Amino acid sequence: MAQEKKYNAIITAVGMYFPDKVFDNKYFESIIDTNEEWILTRTGIRERRILENGGTSVLATNAALDLMQKHNIKAEEIDCIIVATVTPDMFFPPTACLVQKRIGAVNAWGFDLEAACSGFLFAFQTGSGLIESGQYKKVMIIGADKMSSITDYTDRNNCILFGDGGAAVLLEPIEDKNFGLQDSILHVDGSGEVALHMKGGGSLNPPSHETVDKKMHYIYQDGKAVFKVAVKGMADVSVELMQKNNLKSEDIAYLVPHQANMRIIDATAERMGLSRDKVMINIDRYGNTTAATIPSCLVEYYRAGKIKKGDKLILSAFGAGYTWGATYIVWAID
Ligand code: UT7
Repeated sequence: MAQEKKYNAIITAVGMYFPDKVFDNKYFESIIDTNEEWILTRTGIRERRILENGGTSVLATNAALDLMQKHNIKAEEIDCIIVATVTPDMFFPPTACLVQKRIGAVNAWGFDLEAACSGFLFAFQTGSGLIESGQYKKVMIIGADKMSSITDYTDRNNCILFGDGGAAVLLEPIEDKNFGLQDSILHVDGSGEVALHMKGGGSLNPPSHETVDKKMHYIYQDGKAVFKVAVKGMADVSVELMQKNNLKSEDIAYLVPHQANMRIIDATAERMGLSRDKVMINIDRYGNTTAATIPSCLVEYYRAGKIKKGDKLILSAFGAGYTWGATYIVWAID
């Protein structure tokens, strides 16, 4: 039998960072054979932000600093930093270490976690475990990706989808089990490698002239194949989590979906019986920022006063791997 947890993990602070430079749909008309209407109707994306200088650590560090400033959190209070990303500044050191140094979190340990578009959910689960055990009091979870660094801007099927951004949440313990992380269902299925991968640069295909010539350092995605499994995977796991926790549509304040394609989001919401006003959306302004999509939605809706203490949220994602899952949380702060 599972042991009774001492604490639940709750989100007590949030922060985000998106760079200023914008690639709107009109811009893509000037570099590839596409049109604004196609992009908007097929994806729901109007524009994305692009980081011109620096790596993902810039996005992650600025998101962390925004969290700390807005919520008056001192760097030395932070026990652990987990950065979910597929675009680390370097293979090593971990991006979490670069963030630790830049924000001055002198008492923290930390690491990177790679689970593509499900990265935030997987990191949230991992960080929550550290809190629930009672061993750590302040764990920062950051989802950040500079997708422009691995995007082929001559591939019209994919380049219109992605953007750069970072967002962070702080996890802390609470004894009241009515708040914070309640339940989750997480999955991986390695057969997804075929349809969505970046084959170059790793130990399988170390960088060489050949890997560069063959464009192996860019995202490869069979969009149609991924779309089919993503729609089913995200909807199935979200509905399963609702049923497992006896949640009806009217109990849920918001679905917080990974922002890959508006049509995937709509299909998931429909299966859950939720209207559009109960779905967090920012894909129109940022595109797919991989690990940053879910936390940035939380930041924006919280700051707009749209999430209230006690609200039941279902976070849901699907991405490369395949990795996917859904997480049920009860919002704990005003
Ligand atoms: O976050 C990780 C998980 N990733 C996802 O969830 C993404 C999943 N996939 C998707 O979001 C969609 O499949 C896409 C947005 C990538 C594509 O949408 P689609 O409705 O599946 O389009 P399609 O691939 O079936 O393409 C339809 C047509 C094709 O032309 P033909 O072959 O029918 O003549 C494409 O060549 O649209 C064409 N097309 C474009 N046309 C204008 C593809 N890209 C573009 C473009 N502009 N940028």
